[in-house]
Amino acid sequence: MARIIEPFRIKVVEPIRMTDPEERAQILAEAGYNLFRVASDAILIDLLTDSGTGAMSAHQWGAMMQGDESYAGSPSFHRFKHTVKDIFGFRHVIPTHQGRAAERILATTLVKPGDVVPNNTHFDTTRANIEAAGATAIDLPCAESRDLAAYHPFKGNIDLAALEHVLDENTGKVPFAMITITNNGGGGQPVSMDNMRAMAEICQARGVPFYVDACRFAENAYFIKTRSPEYAETDLIDIAREMFSYADGCTMSAKKDGMANIGGFLCSNDDAVARQEEEILILTEGFPTYGGLAGRDLEAIAVGLYEALALDYQRYRSASTRYLGEHIAEAGVPIVQPPGGHAIYIDAQAMLPHLPQAHYPGQALVVELYRHGGIRAVEIGSVMFGTRDPATGAETYAEHELVRLAIPRRVYTKSHIDYVVESILEVYEHRDQVRGIRIVEQPPMLRHFMARFAMR
Ligand code: F0G
Repeated sequence: MARIIEPFRIKVVEPIRMTDPEERAQILAEAGYNLFRVASDAILIDLLTDSGTGAMSAHQWGAMMQGDESYAGSPSFHRFKHTVKDIFGFRHVIPTHQGRAAERILATTLVKPGDVVPNNTHFDTTRANIEAAGATAIDLPCAESRDLAAYHPFKGNIDLAALEHVLDENTGKVPFAMITITNNGGGGQPVSMDNMRAMAEICQARGVPFYVDACRFAENAYFIKTRSPEYAETDLIDIAREMFSYADGCTMSAKKDGMANIGGFLCSNDDAVARQEEEILILTEGFPTYGGLAGRDLEAIAVGLYEALALDYQRYRSASTRYLGEHIAEAGVPIVQPPGGHAIYIDAQAMLPHLPQAHYPGQALVVELYRHGGIRAVEIGSVMFGTRDPATGAETYAEHELVRLAIPRRVYTKSHIDYVVESILEVYEHRDQVRGIRIVEQPPMLRHFMARFAMR
């Protein structure tokens, strides 16, 4: 059979409260046109993030009942550690409450003021943790990623020549180099095995540790299997093992390919570094056999990491994301091509050419998707990355004005996705009537979370 179906049936359901455009217009006005301020029970289809929003399996819920909540030496930790070691292969495994806690412990341990950390594209919390340690976070996405509409199988790759240049210009100042798989900041695009291997060689030749931001490692493994002919017959778990065999450590948010609602971990092969990290862990997260997690969370992750590597699951996951992307792109909606693993990114600047960047086309589209269809997406553009000088009012803008539609794992059916396609196409039909917005209130940092807007 060519048709790919959801490889699960549904045992528990969550009702969706129906709303209409009039009610949503009211909700928007009350929320200052910021979807982070809207209660989730007023959302029909929530594509804000794929992080911690997935549905767990019966097997995960069953395992959670085995959770041992002992402060020290919990068998749940041993099951968790066994799974992480089996897939990731690192010597030391440190549990944390989510990905950014792993990043903070890594940065606190290794990064000094004046240091430089390269990455294909830093996720915002990774960047913030590196900058908080006084260092500079440098993004080195490959040249192919610049053209949003162009097809390339591994647009998440790091620019290897630029990496060599940064390492050679900053000898002694690079505590580690990182690669984010898949590249969330760059459209959820995958990184090839060749790119990771070459990056490892470049780092090793210069004595620089190589870390992976592994959040969506299983989706990356599936892209390698389907886009690199030499891996067509390789199991996803073996692809994952090879990817991590090149690295010295990783940070992980188990809220993505851990298939859990909370959790993360930090791995390394360096005994001395791991000892220091455990000291910080005890200070801020918890004892090394639970980190910031309950025993039941460790159990859910131990099962979930294997479920993310099941071929049927990845085949469905990739097909459903691609289905959304292809159906809106066919009708003319400009998206980052090819569709990513966890999300579709609409190029709002290209879709709404009548709105200048100062009218925030990405946020304008986010507002209209909610008003029209009750869909919650997130702006990844000048609201998120732009700045306003408090003294002069001078503005800076992002390179691209994108809107991300992130797909929670195992949550929505094909009919939900059809509804999303239909809503987006209706908005596309009346796109010339979409009004711009302005910022009326904003905090000095991470303004997208709490800002208030008004319609122009
Ligand atoms: N790295 C990447 C690539 C991420 O996408 C995220 C989270 C993190 C690190 C941090 O992990 O949330 O567990 O602390 N991304 C979510 C998103 C929030 O919506 O893309 P965390």
